[in-house]
Amino acid sequence: MITNRTFTMIKPDAVDNGYIGAILNDIISAGFKIVAMKYTHLTAETAGAFYEVHKERPFYADLVRFMSSGSIVAAILEKDNAVEDFRKLIGATDPSKADAGTIRNKFAKSIEANAVHGSDSDENAAIEGNFFFSALERY
Ligand code: TYD
Repeated sequence: MITNRTFTMIKPDAVDNGYIGAILNDIISAGFKIVAMKYTHLTAETAGAFYEVHKERPFYADLVRFMSSGSIVAAILEKDNAVEDFRKLIGATDPSKADAGTIRNKFAKSIEANAVHGSDSDENAAIEGNFFFSALERY
């Protein structure tokens, strides 16, 4: 099993605000290699499926609405210790609590519109990468 990969999305707020380039620059500067990437969008149905683990949480309906409200960039990233290092690079879920210099600190507007997603485990990184990319695309 490959354990040096993680999955990310640049979320609709960051895409709308023109931050794709700056965020990718931070990701690459931190030593991540882009294995696969696509500019796409989620529907209410696909966003609901992606975040199904949160479906009992009070924020689920708003999150699904937000995540399907605009374009996103989905990518698989590679680096030693990718999952943990990427979570450090993006910072806390709530941008007001994210450390200075982290992607969420610099580019996120709220706990919902928090600029980027980062997988929280190797297992979820694989599941999430498979959600967006075919086997050929994530070689
Ligand atoms: P979570 O998995 O807890 O955070 P992270 O993205 O840091 O792994 O939550 C998933 C997403 O759900 C989060 O990025 C934004 C949204 N969310 C809310 O909108 N409100 C909330 O109170 C929480 C905890 C999350």
